[in-house]
Amino acid sequence: MKIISVNDIAEYDGEEVSIQGWVYKRTGKGKLAFLLVRDGSGFVQCVAFNGDLSEELFETISHIPQESSVVITGTVRADKRAPGLPGGYEIGISAFSVIQAANEDYPMALKEHGADFALDNRHFWIRMPSQWAILRIRATVISAIREWLDTNGYILMDTPILTPAAAEGTTTLFETEYFDEGKAYLAQTGQLYNEANIFAFGKVYCFGPTFRAEKSKTRRHLTEFWMVEPEVAFCDLDQLMEIEEQFVTHIVKRVLKERRVELESLGRDLSALEQVDVPFPRISYDKAVEMIKEIQAETEDPEEKALLDIEWGMDFGARHETVLTKKFDKPLFVYGYPTQVKAFYMEPMPGRPEACKSVDLLAPEGYGEITGGSERMSDPDLLLQRIHEHGLPEESFKWYLQLRQFGSVPHSGFGMGVERTVAWLCGTDHIRETIPFPRTIKRVYP
Ligand code: 4AD
Ligand code: MG
Repeated sequence: MKIISVNDIAEYDGEEVSIQGWVYKRTGKGKLAFLLVRDGSGFVQCVAFNGDLSEELFETISHIPQESSVVITGTVRADKRAPGLPGGYEIGISAFSVIQAANEDYPMALKEHGADFALDNRHFWIRMPSQWAILRIRATVISAIREWLDTNGYILMDTPILTPAAAEGTTTLFETEYFDEGKAYLAQTGQLYNEANIFAFGKVYCFGPTFRAEKSKTRRHLTEFWMVEPEVAFCDLDQLMEIEEQFVTHIVKRVLKERRVELESLGRDLSALEQVDVPFPRISYDKAVEMIKEIQAETEDPEEKALLDIEWGMDFGARHETVLTKKFDKPLFVYGYPTQVKAFYMEPMPGRPEACKSVDLLAPEGYGEITGGSERMSDPDLLLQRIHEHGLPEESFKWYLQLRQFGSVPHSGFGMGVERTVAWLCGTDHIRETIPFPRTIKRVYP
């Protein structure tokens, strides 16, 4: 018998097929037993009718424990009411075999579980429909990222994970002993290496695991996350924003096209995502501070008012970003942040050294910053001064400074966090659900 994937089931209406998978849920009603079976590609309802099967087989099906691995043969029939993902079809069971009958005491039995319990059982949690949907969307996001970059002239450059110094602040470094060389650090970014790569390849990207020993326990921070970082020669801040909006729009459109079933199963409001198209609104940091102050003035709740406190020079908190992005229905570029809240390598605004040519892209609906980027500093003397001001070891940056002396050009780049992007697209509260096995300040298990 032909073994099919559940997500292709519509192609087999009326045919007898087999599926191989796991029992997710079992219910019964008199002469009928219903199994919701998942095969990795989807969930489908399989129905056993007492009259069609031997007494013994019907009994087996009626008592099969959740998570048992099974092979099921039967006829596909369309039925709008049939639950499942994609749903709308069921299989009338004609043959059934058990590969392994699961233990009865499955830790993630179908009832409410607390967040910590679910995270301790992440190896089982990923079997549930919500997590299955989120992680399939993640895979499509990653595929769309690569597709856009690979078809738009960007060359993939794998940058090192073990690095000699900090690039995004010294407070979030993971360090390790490195033979006779002293300390090495897990990469916070591949950007500095990509700044070397563009002078050989023009447009490049790196894409890999990224490490930040973030002390913050927010819903938006992981200690290990995946970041894609495009870097482009002959590109200024405005051109960078044009690249970013095309890139993000492509990702959203591809997810909408290929992962509708998953998005709908998560209850995501698709109309919000359908609005995402070029161009995205752009406001300066100065304007953003003004807007936040206006929103704060209109706020009556004293607690909220306090959270919205802001002065020029401060970085935005989650609350600031949320109120700001609620004013727009597309992702929002905020550019020209204060130099003091950004990394050492950003080009100053012309005639305004207190602000820099940085840009963050804030997702709509309060999902926060999904990309951070900038035009890079060109003046080697100022760059060296910044390296000192940031307490970075000059000897580790010799090569980086040399880039400014041999064919330097205006260049820009950005980094996009996969998990933050997936959280926004899925409408997920906490980014720990958007990576198969999350690492946070409190968790390295499982
Ligand atoms: O804004 P960040 O720190 O920028 C950089 O690292 C630059 N070197 C990128 C570049 O210009 N090439 O990080 C970029 C993005 C953030 O917008 C966010 O999406 C994600 O990476 N990110 C995190 N995601 C999860 N957990 C964390 N702790 C994150 N820190 C940053
Ligand atoms: Mg940032």
